[in-house]
Amino acid sequence: MRPVAHVLVTRQLPFPALDRLGIAHDLDVWPERLPPPPDELQRRAADAEGILSLLSDRIDEPLMAAAPELRAISNYAVGYDNIDLAAAAARGIRVGNTPDVLTDATADLAFALLLAVARKLPEAQRDVRAGNWLTWEPAHPLGQEVHGSTLGIIGYGRIGRAVAKRAEGFDMTVIHTGTPRAPGLSLEELLERSDFVSIHAPLTPETHHLIDAAALAGMRPSAILINTARGPLVDQQALIAALEHGTIAGAGLDVTDPEPVPADDPLLAAPNLIVLPHIGSATHTARGRMADMAVENLLAGLEGQPMPHQVTDDSQ
Ligand code: GLV
Ligand code: GLV
Repeated sequence: MRPVAHVLVTRQLPFPALDRLGIAHDLDVWPERLPPPPDELQRRAADAEGILSLLSDRIDEPLMAAAPELRAISNYAVGYDNIDLAAAAARGIRVGNTPDVLTDATADLAFALLLAVARKLPEAQRDVRAGNWLTWEPAHPLGQEVHGSTLGIIGYGRIGRAVAKRAEGFDMTVIHTGTPRAPGLSLEELLERSDFVSIHAPLTPETHHLIDAAALAGMRPSAILINTARGPLVDQQALIAALEHGTIAGAGLDVTDPEPVPADDPLLAAPNLIVLPHIGSATHTARGRMADMAVENLLAGLEGQPMPHQVTDDSQ
């Protein structure tokens, strides 16, 4: 018989995979809707051998130092910027993520945002509900043509390529910045040429505020920015200013900095902006498959085996 391990699960995950984990191991499931506060997370991690974490949980060096038994961290996300990988590697703790299974859901959402901002769907919907649909209007609300336009993709990994595939159906010209191993256009050239810019890069120290005031100034005044990756890739203050001054025409964000964005944040008063609450992977299919993968990763890590989807310091 395999020894039973003590596992901290930082949120309730209503998927069958969790039952499998619960049969094999002893689970401590955080029961609340909001994440455990950092000190509570650290307290509960103290005797954990495994953690199933969410992107809203910071799994840092002090937490690992306070959890001497910890040997497996399984993040219920493809991104893992919430985890200190170097600290984990130094302690021989395996870290896993959930790539691939959310690629299409996230690419769909990026495209939904692109279309919704381009064609001013929120404004049009508001008009209908406010009794402001007076007649068929020749020139209101006028949006941007998506078909045949140029889409610039920043970060041409799994999700970036899936967005490119969708763009083909709209006869868009797709340009991209490539990957670290196969670089494409420079960011400057991409921003200059794109009607739409969609971000699909991981958040690292190098990509923090990749889209800053200078980058926004290098975009077309008619351009629309889409971010479904991580909020801090964009300098949010610079984006607010760019939307207010018409430096760019609009933006669609599924991610913000911080998350959640406070209801009174100036971001929400900026014009031509759609903000969604980080729902890129939020389909029944993707979230269920992420749970399967996160549990497989954790089970392998607890057994001292390589995880099926294990991340390393240089795998971003
Ligand atoms: C979501 O943002 C993820 O990284 O899975
Ligand atoms: C980003 O996470 C990607 O896979 O492209």
